[in-house]
Amino acid sequence: MEAMLSNLKGLKKRGALGINIGPNKNTKFENILEEYFILYKAFSSHADYIAINISSPNTPGLRNMHDPLHFEDLIRQISAERSTSTDKPKILIKFSPDEKDDAYIKLIEILNNSDLDGVIVSNTTVDNNLKIKSGAAGINGGISGKLLQDKSNKLLTFFKKNLKPEKIIVAVGGVFDVDSYNKKLDLGADFVQIYTGFVYEGPSLIKRIVQNGK
Ligand SMILES: Cc1cc2nc3c(=O)[nH]c(=O)nc-3n(C[C@H](O)[C@H](O)[C@H](O)COP(=O)(O)O)c2cc1C
Repeated sequence: MEAMLSNLKGLKKRGALGINIGPNKNTKFENILEEYFILYKAFSSHADYIAINISSPNTPGLRNMHDPLHFEDLIRQISAERSTSTDKPKILIKFSPDEKDDAYIKLIEILNNSDLDGVIVSNTTVDNNLKIKSGAAGINGGISGKLLQDKSNKLLTFFKKNLKPEKIIVAVGGVFDVDSYNKKLDLGADFVQIYTGFVYEGPSLIKRIVQNGK
């Protein structure tokens, strides 16, 4: 956090900036809320949006934040903090693609009843079949890229159907060309993010998509 704050101070010029926050790997679950809170307060004046990451598969126990009780607590605290501050970044929650539909329904209901701005769908998947397909069976961590695309697109469709229309949907997962980018827009994304595709192809991918995408 401190290293990043000092990097931000050195920035002379910037475009839109989103900052993704999540607890340390070794933080006890009972202290996770406090850590989100500290991070939110540290970065809220620097970011256009704060992404609250409740879905990294590499932080043991973090996905328990998809439990509606913990989720509601988190949302309430962050929302209360923003309402009393002059800094008003947009706040987006970044979801796992591996939860059950009835869990998503409860979480979406909580979000719809809150003043938070939207969602990012999705993080990587720990789906065992996909891990086997990718040759990563038995290895910790999540699957990203093309193998994730169907799963994250299904979740995008589900969120589009159930989330209030005024909420923002940022879609991510398996975008690697113009068609996979357009597909996210067709399914209702307001914004699209690219990670693995960028690793493989670099900035030329972004240029191609911006020039040829919808
Ligand atoms: C090496 C690697 C590191 C990642 N680290 C984070 C992270 O720190 N926080 C987060 O929210 N998502 C993280 N992700 C997930 C990506 O942000 C993204 O949601 C996911 O990879 C799906 O997009 P893609 O198919 O374009 O890669 C990471 C993904 C990869 C492959």
